[in-house]
Amino acid sequence: MLKIGFVGWRGMVGSVLMDRMIREDDFKGYEPIFYTTSNIGGEGPDIGIDIPPLSDAYDIGLLSTMDIIVTCQGGDYTKKVYPEIRGKGWNGYWIDSASALRMSDESIIVLDPVNRDVIDSGFKLGIKTYVGGNCTVSLMLMALSGLFASGHIQWISSMTYQAASGAGAKHMKELIAQMKVLGDASGALLQDPSSTAIAIDELITRELRDKVFPVENFLVPLAGSLIPWIDSPMESGQTREEWKGSSETNKILNTARPIPVDGLCVRVGAMRCHSQGLTIKLDANIPLDEVVDMIDRGNQWVKVVQNTKESTINELTPAAVNGTLEVPVGRVHKMLMGPDFVTAFTVGDQLLWGAAEPIRRILNIIIELCEG
Ligand code: HSE
Repeated sequence: MLKIGFVGWRGMVGSVLMDRMIREDDFKGYEPIFYTTSNIGGEGPDIGIDIPPLSDAYDIGLLSTMDIIVTCQGGDYTKKVYPEIRGKGWNGYWIDSASALRMSDESIIVLDPVNRDVIDSGFKLGIKTYVGGNCTVSLMLMALSGLFASGHIQWISSMTYQAASGAGAKHMKELIAQMKVLGDASGALLQDPSSTAIAIDELITRELRDKVFPVENFLVPLAGSLIPWIDSPMESGQTREEWKGSSETNKILNTARPIPVDGLCVRVGAMRCHSQGLTIKLDANIPLDEVVDMIDRGNQWVKVVQNTKESTINELTPAAVNGTLEVPVGRVHKMLMGPDFVTAFTVGDQLLWGAAEPIRRILNIIIELCEG
């Protein structure tokens, strides 16, 4: 029976992963061992079966007895433990949600509804390291997998509207704390039917600029505002988040000739759904209904939303998509720039397809391939 170690199962991505695995009845047919960086001997998660007490996530000897290690512990853990365990000759499968190993030659970035062929051939070649992709990239690829498969995409510009969850759990809480400060401050004016929007706006602006406004994590207000910068600067003038668009897309698809993907990444006050406004340059004037059809046939989770106000506001928003595996794509139409330019808008849950779900699925795929 395979022994599978889980590290970082208590954090935000890890707990979404646990929840999905329990729901899908995944904990069967292997021996799960849960690790901890802080509570050795403590109780593991309730997964419906008996499990041993928590083991030390830094015990390389113990970790080396695993056939597969799944980690959502984060990049620092990966950077410390991965080279050590591989250095000691461990040859098991390492499945990781952190970005640290994504661009390594020894890893495959996993998004199986889009790159199952890359995963299968990598497995046959003996690749042992499988890493979840950047959330924005994974969600864009889930949305456009059918169009990518058609081979007609020349380039994409993606302007993003990224949720607080992408920055972390503390940031999600800070967003709501910021909203609460604004709500509390404007309460009396909102109650007063004679108050003006301008008076409320003046008060809100004062609050946003007040030194005591809670900005410990975001550094600046996100509620009532936005932040057009995600991650660290690159020489190119892009942020690292923007740089990942092209580099990860092309690694995931294993493209023979790179398809440029670029745009600005912006943090907005959504909780856990990333949205993206896409400009897609096709290599030909493909009729719009064919483009829509290709998008719709991409995978079983993508859903084309009619380009009407009613469908858009009801089906193509973070409020509608939060907590679901659906990846709606809407506002699809040709652009004034020319008949081979198409625009679209897509929304996806950053913690599901953007993080936990590709990890859950690659674990099942690797178990299947190991046993098959
Ligand atoms: N880097 C992403 C973000 C999330 O900040 O939204 C992780 O892929």
